Amino acid sequence: MLLLITLLFNLIGCSVSDVLIDQSKNGETQIFQLVGDGKVMIRAITTNIECPNVIWDQLPAEQLMTRATAANVPLRKKSDEVASNFPITTCEITWPKGVQQATINGQTLNALKSEVQRILIIADTGCRLKKSDNAFQDCNDLDKWPFKKIVLNAAKMNPDLVVHVGDIHYRESPCPTEHRGCKNSPWGYGFDTWKADFFIPAKPLLDRSPWVFVRGNHESCQRAGQGWHRFIDEQSWDDKKSCNDPMYDQHGNHRSPYAVSLGKSSQIIVFDSANIPSNELKKEDVAYNLYYKQIELAEELAKNKLFNIFSNHHPISIVTPSKIKSDNGKFVLNGNSLTPLMEKINANALLSPSFNATLHGHIHVVEAIDYQFQRPVSLISGNSGSALEFNGLKDISLSSEQKKIMQIENIQTFLNFGFATLDRMDKNGLQWLFTEFNVDGQKIFSCLISSKNGKSSCVKESN
Ligand SMILES: [Fe+2]
Repeated sequence: MLLLITLLFNLIGCSVSDVLIDQSKNGETQIFQLVGDGKVMIRAITTNIECPNVIWDQLPAEQLMTRATAANVPLRKKSDEVASNFPITTCEITWPKGVQQATINGQTLNALKSEVQRILIIADTGCRLKKSDNAFQDCNDLDKWPFKKIVLNAAKMNPDLVVHVGDIHYRESPCPTEHRGCKNSPWGYGFDTWKADFFIPAKPLLDRSPWVFVRGNHESCQRAGQGWHRFIDEQSWDDKKSCNDPMYDQHGNHRSPYAVSLGKSSQIIVFDSANIPSNELKKEDVAYNLYYKQIELAEELAKNKLFNIFSNHHPISIVTPSKIKSDNGKFVLNGNSLTPLMEKINANALLSPSFNATLHGHIHVVEAIDYQFQRPVSLISGNSGSALEFNGLKDISLSSEQKKIMQIENIQTFLNFGFATLDRMDKNGLQWLFTEFNVDGQKIFSCLISSKNGKSSCVKESN
């Protein structure tokens, strides 16, 4: 039996030591909870053909439904170097209302709390292997690619919910033979890469807490979108959204925003910006109208609760070194192609006062920005594993003059690897403490998010 299992694992490109769950009778299965648009699901990714059974605490046992069968998807285009092989079955079932506990293959899952107290935030977690940028991270070195360490320390915080703010998959090119730090790494968009880049290191958190996934540009159809829809997209399976055929990329690359409840009074609005262009959108562009409507929809959703966090992958407002050469690296306030659309709708505030904070990844740094004018607090938290940014800069320290120009009340930053938490500080969920931790789980800084007269702030906590 052991020989058979070993052969099976070797077939899917891993050894017995890095299986998701080693259960000799039940093959290899990863079970996790996914929070979507008004529902919580259980997903199971299994080397078995059959989906597992779930035992509910208050309902009869039932079998998870097959979401996607194993497939070796043909190349999306001739120039692609490797086809995406998914030698696993993806299964799912919606968590029934009133059920408190579920057991699958001996693993117990608890229902998502109706009033969430602690949220864990990670983003940009994968190990960058990208030939076109000549960027090859040392995936085999826990200090150079510390996602596994981050997960272990973050899991100790016992979060009620994990929010991944996008860019999960980074291993797009083969590791060069001379580069020992990433030797033997899988690459491409198939399951072996997803497993090495995400499922294995993320396991301690996948096992214990429900997840919200905000889609990053790395999960667009042109990149790892196939795995996104197969494994972690909260939408129902749709061949046209599977990213398997580039003809339907427009369909697969977009979706409407949705709300994830944190309780009676607070929620996160999840916004898919995976496919936004890097250049400014023009009114005649199809994408202009599409994203404009999505921003309006997000505004509508925000009317349902008192405290709202807008979360999309690309920062709509962030302090970065200027890209203009003559600026000599001076810091400026930047946005993305959504920012001018938001300005059209809400002027300088970008979003209405219904929003208390925005949460992003994409830039591999941490920033918590409190503005002097009406704009939701910006939280950028993109430092959970992928190679860092700003060319080894140790800190962003703005002079009072620079703060005045950018109209920043206060800014806290961390330019090293780590993760963050959001802790509810009042019964109603109208105040949340944002705390940044380093890889080892040591606190770096924190600030309290709340709003007064429609103006949000993130007030520094003294250590
Ligand atoms: Fe990104």
